[in-house]
Amino acid sequence: MRALRIGVLGAGLIGKKHINVLLAGEGKYELAGVADPDVSAAAQAAPDARQFLSIDSLITEAKPDGVIIATPNQTHLEMGLACINAGLPILVEKPVADSLEDAHRLVDTAEAAGVPVLVGHHRRHNPIMQAAAEAVHSGSLGRVVTAASLWMTHKPKGYHDPIWRRRPGGGPILINAIHEIDSLRMLLGDIVEVQAFSSNAERGFEVEDTTAAVFRFSSGALGTLALSDTASAPWTWEWTSGENPDFPNEDTDSLFIAGTLGSLAVPSLILRTHPEGYQSWLTPLTEKQLTYRPQDPYIPQMKNFCDVINGDGEPVVSGREGLKTLAATLAIAEAAATGRAVRLD
Ligand SMILES: NC(=O)c1ccc[n+]([C@@H]2O[C@H](COP(=O)([O-])OP(=O)(O)OC[C@H]3O[C@@H](n4cnc5c(N)ncnc54)[C@H](O)[C@@H]3O)[C@@H](O)[C@H]2O)c1
Repeated sequence: MRALRIGVLGAGLIGKKHINVLLAGEGKYELAGVADPDVSAAAQAAPDARQFLSIDSLITEAKPDGVIIATPNQTHLEMGLACINAGLPILVEKPVADSLEDAHRLVDTAEAAGVPVLVGHHRRHNPIMQAAAEAVHSGSLGRVVTAASLWMTHKPKGYHDPIWRRRPGGGPILINAIHEIDSLRMLLGDIVEVQAFSSNAERGFEVEDTTAAVFRFSSGALGTLALSDTASAPWTWEWTSGENPDFPNEDTDSLFIAGTLGSLAVPSLILRTHPEGYQSWLTPLTEKQLTYRPQDPYIPQMKNFCDVINGDGEPVVSGREGLKTLAATLAIAEAAATGRAVRLD
């Protein structure tokens, strides 16, 4: 089978990551071209690739088999519709769109046209998360009753210089929590209700710096997320998983799942269980270290995209899944702003 030719739209931080995966495709997939209105971004990210200034020229001249959309959030709908109208499958970076309305329009249009949409929630392809999901879904923890997710870190000086990062929408709920929500949804299923409080007391910007959220899952399980970008702490996926070498790596956990028979710490993947019938706070738990084979999650994500284009598989994260993660994330902001619980239908 010939290598699939994938176009990349947007040659910024994450576009470069996809470009590098495609350049190392070893005949399974290859870079068809890069489009970015910033000529220097494309030239720097992929000097030897065909470069275009717009989505239209990428589609008509490079004739890709699929397109990765790695442009700013507010462009995802327009870029996505251009590809869908051309019948081209897309892998769109998270969030699927920057509002629920746009996300619905993108996903509904794609489904009506029969064009696949995948969303770049890459952690679902991380072998650590896949081993955690296997343990939870196989019943090793018994019936899952609760989960606690931590995302506590300190964004550096200068991070808030662009004004949009000091305003609602530019803070840790929409930029960072969306990943935590997607991980919780991967392990525990759909979120049906959200309550939350936010604070801007530390920085005093319009945008939140700290948020505490509570979730009810369709299974009946309850979960929490403690989120702060003004906390000098190591408890984030970025610091604990070793997924991104740009961050320090700490040997600790940032996500805890507990069920009637056992509990799982992530990313260490330490499973602690009580034998059935012997659950008691007086009985020590037995520890087992789950294993996995480390892999850069962007590689299996690309493979999944190619399998879907070839008709050989289903999206690991479909447009509709990305939409549900976005809805739960936006519900945190709404609950915190209104002081009322938000139900998700
Ligand atoms: N999966 C992840 O962990 C992850 C991490 C970072 C960013 N993202 C997402 O990736 C997307 C891009 O983020 P980023 O940090 O790479 O941004 P960035 O600002 O570094 O890069 C965006 C690029 O898109 C280009 N661009 C803007 N409009 C364009 C258009 N109409 N056509 C083509 N190119 C255009 C810009 O010139 C820029 O080079 C966002 O949706 C973001 O949320 C995902």
